[in-house]
Amino acid sequence: MSTECIIVQGGKRLSGVVPIGGAKNSVLKLMAASLLVPGVTTITNVPCISDVLTLQSVLEHLGAEVVMDSNAHSVTIDAGKVKDTAVPYDLVAQMRATITVLGPLVGRFGKASIAMPGGCDIGARGIDMHLRGLEKLGVSFKTLHGDIHAHVGPKGLVGAQIELAFASVGATENLILAATCAKGTTVIKNAAREPEIADLADFLVCLGARISGQGTSVIVIEGVDRFDPVKGYATVGDRIEAGTFLVAGALAGGPLTVEGVRPEHLATALMKLEACGAEIATTPTTITVSHRGSFAPVDIQTLPYPGFPTDLQAQFMVLDAVASGSSTVTENIFESRFKVADEYNRMGARVRVEGHHAYIEGVEELSGAPVQAPDLRAGAGLVLAGLIADGTTRVSGVEFVDRGYEGIVEKLATVGAQITRETV
Ligand code: UD1
Repeated sequence: MSTECIIVQGGKRLSGVVPIGGAKNSVLKLMAASLLVPGVTTITNVPCISDVLTLQSVLEHLGAEVVMDSNAHSVTIDAGKVKDTAVPYDLVAQMRATITVLGPLVGRFGKASIAMPGGCDIGARGIDMHLRGLEKLGVSFKTLHGDIHAHVGPKGLVGAQIELAFASVGATENLILAATCAKGTTVIKNAAREPEIADLADFLVCLGARISGQGTSVIVIEGVDRFDPVKGYATVGDRIEAGTFLVAGALAGGPLTVEGVRPEHLATALMKLEACGAEIATTPTTITVSHRGSFAPVDIQTLPYPGFPTDLQAQFMVLDAVASGSSTVTENIFESRFKVADEYNRMGARVRVEGHHAYIEGVEELSGAPVQAPDLRAGAGLVLAGLIADGTTRVSGVEFVDRGYEGIVEKLATVGAQITRETV
C-alpha cells in the first residue's frame, strides 16, 4: 500500500517571508455559526486544510449549500435550506470539533442529535461541560445507541448564569452559540479567553448577536431572535501555524518573517523563543525571528490562553531537544500528548516521559530517520526536527499534518528548506 510522506534534508538555513492563513480553530466555529443564519454567509481568510473540508461535509449533510473557493481562500454557506439536525458517527469520528454544531442546531431548531465523540489521538476529551452548560439554558439530553439527542422544551432556550469548572474552549463556544438564541441574558464565567473565541463572538456580532466580554473570562450574551447574512468576514490569523514557522526560523537561523498574525496572540510563545536565545521583532501583523549560536533550554507548561498553548508544545520540544542543557515540558491540557517523544528519540533526542512531564536532555545534533506523526501538531514538530537533523527525515502520517497546515511543504521550500512530499 502506498503512503504519502514529507521528506526533509536537514541543515539548510531558512530565511524569507511566510504568509499565515486563517486560524483553523476559528474558521471551523465560524462555519458552524453560519448554521444560525437562514441565508448566505461568506467567510474569508479560510485555510485550505482537511478539517475545513470535513466541516464542509457536516454542513452539507445537514442540508446547507457550501461553496469553497480555495484560490480566493473563501467559503460561502447558504444555510437557508437546512432541515436535518442529525450528525452521524462517521463525521464526528473524523473530527471532534464537529461537536460545535450542537449549539447552533439547538439554538435555531430546538433539537439536534450528534454521535458521542470517542477518544482521540491526544487522549480522552470529554464534553460534559458542553452538556451541563446547555442544560442550564434549557436543553435536555438523552443518549441512545451512541448518539446524544438534544431537545429544547416548549419555553425555548432561556438565558442563565453558567460557571465552567475549567476554561474549555469548545464548551465556551457551544454555549455562546446557543445563548445567542436564548431569551434574556446569559453570563459565562471562567470562560476560555482564546483569540479564536473572541473571533467567533465578533463574527456573531456581525450577524446581529449581542455579546460583550469576549477575550475575558466573563462573557455576557443577550439573546436575539434573528441573524442577518454577512458577506466577507475575515478569519483571524492562525497563531499556531505562525508559531510553528517561528520555531522553524529559530532552529534554522532566519531571519524568517511570518505575515498575517497578531503578535499579541503569541506573547507567551515569543517570550519562550527569546528565552531560548532567539531574537524577535514585530509589527502589528508580522513577527520576525532570527537566531545564532546555541539554544538555552527552557521549561514549558501548557495552560489555557494566555498561557503557553498546548498546540505548540510538540514544536517547542524540538528546540529543547537540541538545547545546551536540560529542561522540563509539562502538559496540563491533554492527557496523552507526548506520543511524539518516542519519534524524537528515534532521531537521537533524549526525552523521558513521566505522566504529564517530559524531561529533556539536550543533544548536539538530531539524526534524520523515518518517523511517524502520531497527531497533527506532533507531525509538524517532526518536520521541524527534520529541518535541523543530519541527513534525511521521512515523516509519514501526513494526513494528520494536512488537517491543520495548508502547503507546509511549499511554504518551507520557499524560504529555503530542502523538502518534498512524495508517495512511497
Ligand atoms: C480546542 C482546540 C485545540 C486546542 C484546545 C486547547 C479546536 C477545534 N481545538 O480543543 O486545538 O488544543 O482547544 O487550547 O478549537 N474537557 C472536558 N470536558 C468538556 C470539555 C473539555 O473534560 O466538556 C477537557 C478535554 O478533555 C481536554 C481539556 O478539557 O482535556 C481541554 O479541552 P477544550 O479546551 O475544550 O479543548 P477543545 O475545544 O477540545
